[in-house]
Amino acid sequence: MSIVIAIDGPAAAGKGTLAKRLAEKYDLAKLDTGLLYRAVGFKVISHGGDPEDPKEAEATARALDPDELTNEALRTDAAAQAASKVSAIPGVRAALLDFQRNFAAHPPPLDDGTPAQGAVLDGRDIGTTVCPQAHVKIFINARTEVRAKRRFKELQYRGHKAIYARVLEDMMERDARDSGRSASPLAAADDACILDTSALDADQAFAKAVEFMSTKNLF
Ligand code: C5P
Repeated sequence: MSIVIAIDGPAAAGKGTLAKRLAEKYDLAKLDTGLLYRAVGFKVISHGGDPEDPKEAEATARALDPDELTNEALRTDAAAQAASKVSAIPGVRAALLDFQRNFAAHPPPLDDGTPAQGAVLDGRDIGTTVCPQAHVKIFINARTEVRAKRRFKELQYRGHKAIYARVLEDMMERDARDSGRSASPLAAADDACILDTSALDADQAFAKAVEFMSTKNLF
């Protein structure tokens, strides 16, 4: 049986770090689904296009090559804002759905070539829309200021120029757009474990997630 773990939550809540650690512990393939939307948004703006134009964004999403997901420029706030705009377009979400579901159902082998035990996907709508049958669903959140501070530090660490007030403002704008859109908004599934990481470091958040996993008797 291929185990599927869905991790959802707003920006900089700790999804990526948690997904990576769970993938390592349980031998799972990992997919950061935000990168798919970032790649689409970034491609549209790099060509001088409008990320809110459905025609262009949908065509870009349909032509997306997974090899494009490693571009460091996808980590910038400009790419995040463009991602948040293209991701509100239903045709873009539909174009990316099969790739995500296929990854969950047929996870690629691990880096060392051994077969994966399953997949962990992180995003905004994995537990609600992409993999509603996931064996484990975790909704990870933290106070906005805490998330903005984390994001600010991450941008600095990666060598990108950043101003905290701007990062906070962008994050609030993106949260509002992601939660308010009608196509697959950011939301916790009814059966998700809610994990608030405002006062938790990565080790503590991981320990809580592992504790929750152990209640499911999957391994
Ligand atoms: O997770 P990340 O910050 O990289 O996501 C960038 C943007 O992509 C989000 O703000 C959101 O608009 C969109 N996204 C989404 N659904 C997902 C993952 C990301 O709409 N499953």
